[in-house]
Amino acid sequence: LANGLGMTPPMGWNTWNHFFCDINETVIRESADALVSTGLAKLGYRYVNIDDCWAEHDRDSKGYLVPRKSTFPSGIKALADYAHGKGLKLGIYSDAGSRTCSQRMPGSLGHEQKDAETFASWGIDYLKYDNCNNGDLKPMKRGDMHPALWADKLGNSWRTTMDINDSWESMVSRADQNEVYAEHARPGGWNDPDMLEVGNGGMSNDEYIVHFSLWAASKAPLLIGCDVRSLSKETLAILGNEEVIAVNQDPLGVQAKKVRMEGDHEVWAGPLSGYRTVIVLLNRSPEFRIITAQWDDIGIPPNTIVEARDLWKHTTMDKRFVNKLKANVRPHACKMFLLTPLPLSE
Ligand code: GLA
Repeated sequence: LANGLGMTPPMGWNTWNHFFCDINETVIRESADALVSTGLAKLGYRYVNIDDCWAEHDRDSKGYLVPRKSTFPSGIKALADYAHGKGLKLGIYSDAGSRTCSQRMPGSLGHEQKDAETFASWGIDYLKYDNCNNGDLKPMKRGDMHPALWADKLGNSWRTTMDINDSWESMVSRADQNEVYAEHARPGGWNDPDMLEVGNGGMSNDEYIVHFSLWAASKAPLLIGCDVRSLSKETLAILGNEEVIAVNQDPLGVQAKKVRMEGDHEVWAGPLSGYRTVIVLLNRSPEFRIITAQWDDIGIPPNTIVEARDLWKHTTMDKRFVNKLKANVRPHACKMFLLTPLPLSE
């Protein structure tokens, strides 16, 4: 959407993947505090997004949504003010149907103008708009088109997949489904393979590194989905990897693609600003694999000499690479390199 927002993928935190409907204003405030105290806010994670279940079961007599008194007694505007006071932004959730996906609160169908005005009056910065309980209404008059084909006129990102869960199979299949729509991503509008599960406990550290690497290279929104009030050292090292975040936030805004698949292992690659390239060597198998990225496949001109930086080891390799780069990758793991072409020497 050409509204000047989302020139790079949105970054922040969202309640759903960890808390589901079990949310309240204390969790929101403490999570905002944690984004700042961990340093994540400074790295770009500025959106504090409240997902489903924040409102009372029914609208009030005038038709307004009402923050749930038992869990959000201070109201949503107070939380927006709180977030703004910390240099953060507040996001909220509604739905295009009669009820949200949880069914626990009303959706915005027939109340769109009123709800938009309400959210604006509270100082809300971001809206996640779901599509449950919509009866036979199609989101587009023209019928069953995938959101990647139309949502760029309405929003700054759109879901390309069903909901993720905290498992390897779910995570890699979301990455695969999202990859198909790569050409639709660009500054102002991003494909969304769903929010991050990093730190929720269902995957190994290597698997979470794959998750974050693929999301970053795919220019996916980086919306943290774990409890940021109690981050392990390992989780913070993943979510806080500045070099990987820089790939996601690169101004060129081109989504990486799977450029070569060989059975259970593969190469993802995408261009970055400054004629650089990011590659992810992904091993889906339960054994070690040697994975080779070839210039032919990743779009680097033949004979180009390349410097490679390992974005998880944070080291630049002594060796220069010409025409290919080969690495041994652990089971259910990846390596991620930033490739910078070197000027031809005399
Ligand atoms: C849908 C969405 C999720 C979450 C839930 C809330 O399933 O895809 O991300 O917002 O609704 O009920």
